[in-house]
Amino acid sequence: MIEMSTAFQVARQIKVFPMAQKTIEKLNSLFEEFSAMIQKLQDKSDVLNLKASYLGKSGPLTEALAGLRQASVEEKKQIGPVANKIKESIQKAIEQKLEQLELAEMAQKLEHNAVDIFYLDSCKGQGQFHGGLHPVTIVQREIEDIFLSMGFEIVDGPHIEDEYHNFEALNIPEDHPARDMQDTFWFETEANKSQYRHLLRTHTSTIQVRGMRERRPPFRFIAPGKVFRCERTDASHEMVFHQLEGMMVGKDISVANLIYFMKSLLTEIFKKEVEVRLRPGFFPFVEPGFELDIRCLICNGKGCSVCKQVGWVELLPCGMVHPNVLKHGGIDPEEFNGFAFGLGLDRLVMMKYGIDDIRHIHGGDLRFVEQFKSY
Ligand code: FA5
Repeated sequence: MIEMSTAFQVARQIKVFPMAQKTIEKLNSLFEEFSAMIQKLQDKSDVLNLKASYLGKSGPLTEALAGLRQASVEEKKQIGPVANKIKESIQKAIEQKLEQLELAEMAQKLEHNAVDIFYLDSCKGQGQFHGGLHPVTIVQREIEDIFLSMGFEIVDGPHIEDEYHNFEALNIPEDHPARDMQDTFWFETEANKSQYRHLLRTHTSTIQVRGMRERRPPFRFIAPGKVFRCERTDASHEMVFHQLEGMMVGKDISVANLIYFMKSLLTEIFKKEVEVRLRPGFFPFVEPGFELDIRCLICNGKGCSVCKQVGWVELLPCGMVHPNVLKHGGIDPEEFNGFAFGLGLDRLVMMKYGIDDIRHIHGGDLRFVEQFKSY
């Protein structure tokens, strides 16, 4: 309900000057006209338009008050409070109307989108309304289970790293050419000699020193996660992809142990014989270092865009932890040794499911991810 102007009613009871009387009556009829109009409106934008036309600079209210300039002081004293009260009443009526329309709109939406819990309940078992896991998550969880069953812990590390953990502690000092092997996204921080610069981690190997410092040997852990490289993308390269780091440190660990764990992982994941090859690989943080490649399962080794026509895909670089890295982790290399590996998780997903372009994996196309739905 719109509140009538009490000031106007008071004004009616006292003796008013003729000009004031005329203006006040005009204001009153404008208010009545406004009240009748606003009551009919059902749309918020119409209410806002009405507000603009009544209270705007060229609106009837302003027009009715234009004559005030010629009015005497006494007349102004009579008209002023009435005009103010009417303006206030219009503003209040508009606010109330907008609130009322908003509530009605909300009630309508609630009614329209109401969740029928009994209907949802009856859909159980029909596969409706279920999301699914992303293929990378599916494979990551499978690998986690495999390693958990072999006594490994799962650890986590930050995406935003410092160059100490990403490079220096891994035996890659500032001027080492190996820094160029991984194009890095750096944070623009003030160069300060006493502080390490920050970056988006280029590999999960950052977790090696973090993990070692928090444990005493013997230990074994894996660390899956996203890594970032400023690279041109193609069928087998993304800028944001996933790796899964693994590390085992203890006494008398050998390359035979490393190969045993890598073989167990691949047999469990593929549930069939897959052809792999081990060749020397260079990574400053392992010695000796290896590249473990898998025969490309997209083209069966014939050559395609994923394997760059060579028939093999780099999947699982690994090696024996370099003594300098053990030292950074607070471990005496005379007493303990270990192995480490860095699995390319997205490439493993590609091989497992026959995905011929890594960009499908992170493209966000529901038609792609829905094929992996697991309930
Ligand atoms: C590394 O990142 C080492 N940190 C791995 C390592 C760990 C070696 C421990 C020794 C001991 P590399 O840059 O090769 O290595 O990457 C490891 C794997 O990640 C590759 O074999 C590949 O499978 C995957 N990979 C590398 N770059 C990309 C990319 N741009 N897109 C998708 N996968 C990639």
